[in-house]
Amino acid sequence: MNDIFLKACRGEEVPYTPVWIMRQAGRYLPEYQAVRAEVDFLTLCKTPELAAKVTLQPVEKLKVDAAILFSDILIAVEAMGMHLEFSDRKGPVLSDPVRTKSGIDRLVIPDTEDSMPFVIEAIKILRSQLNVPLIGFSGAPFTLATYMIEGGSSKNFLNTKRMMFQNPGLFSLLMDKITMTVISYLSSQIRAGAQAVQLFDTWAGALAPEDYKEFVLPSVKRAIAELKKEGVPVIYFVNECAALLKEIKKTTADVIGIDWRIDLKDAIKGLGKKFAVQGNLDPCALFLPHEKMEDKVKDILWKGEFAKGHIFNLGHGILPESPAENAVALVEAVHRFSER
Ligand code: CP3
Repeated sequence: MNDIFLKACRGEEVPYTPVWIMRQAGRYLPEYQAVRAEVDFLTLCKTPELAAKVTLQPVEKLKVDAAILFSDILIAVEAMGMHLEFSDRKGPVLSDPVRTKSGIDRLVIPDTEDSMPFVIEAIKILRSQLNVPLIGFSGAPFTLATYMIEGGSSKNFLNTKRMMFQNPGLFSLLMDKITMTVISYLSSQIRAGAQAVQLFDTWAGALAPEDYKEFVLPSVKRAIAELKKEGVPVIYFVNECAALLKEIKKTTADVIGIDWRIDLKDAIKGLGKKFAVQGNLDPCALFLPHEKMEDKVKDILWKGEFAKGHIFNLGHGILPESPAENAVALVEAVHRFSER
């Protein structure tokens, strides 16, 4: 079993820098497209054998050092009682967005084994087949709240911020319910076999630092503190994290995911010695000429040396247009240039 990824999460000595890619299973892979041609996205998420199959595709093709469960952050939102659909044009659509007390009261804190058994089953299948660690994941409370309040993706998060600013009591009631869901959902994934977990806070970067501190940080701290008790590394990824690092460092995460808009050296300096870091190549670097991409890889590897531990990754999910052979070359380059 290749456990280099887990070692790097804990800040232990590693023979080379481990690498995986956010959204590594997906549309840029012809093998994924072939599976998706037969089933819709939600069916794929809810069929353990198929979810396991597409989870394994990038592990075999790219030779990454970790697998991430194939699912979606909105699966748990559906289990809380909302109606979820994925449209090709609009992305995720949650009907009847949550904007009132009664809307919040109707939400349940789902039991994973009862309402998302396919997640547990997929993890068990994967653990029997993988020779790299399996990462479980969930949306972080704020990012899930934006989807629930907006009813889908959003540009300005107006409805979310309106609830936050005009009715902070209501907002915190919703955040509490989501936080309890996240804790229970990820604990179940860990007990089923997930060897690390990542919290995706994709939209927290849309907040002013003081609002992040007041409205979001307490839930993140609580979720991470609870999950740490399960004994596996916890990764916290915030997209557009630069201005929030001084708050993010107040969490007890093992690893902080860094997007590409900040120099990794500055991010490490801002976070201090306590954390391993994960990142942070611009996903569009996969469109660079090969040598230019390699230069960027070397630069990030060198900067990563200054952290307690470094896991190489893109600064956000791989784009569907990415040439798969460049993703293969990226992983190979990380391994080659970082060999100790
Ligand atoms: O990383 C992996 O390989 C595991 C799979 C994974 C998916 N979604 C599969 C997916 C993970 C970790 C996610 C997380 C997720 N989902 C996030 C947080 C990470 C991030 O990228 O910031 C968010 C915000 C979502 C919500 C979501 N899911 C949106 C907005 C969309 C539509 C836009 C898009 O990227 O297509 C999805 C759909 C989705 N989730 C797809 C995949 C492979 C595409 C579905 C398809 O096959 O058509």
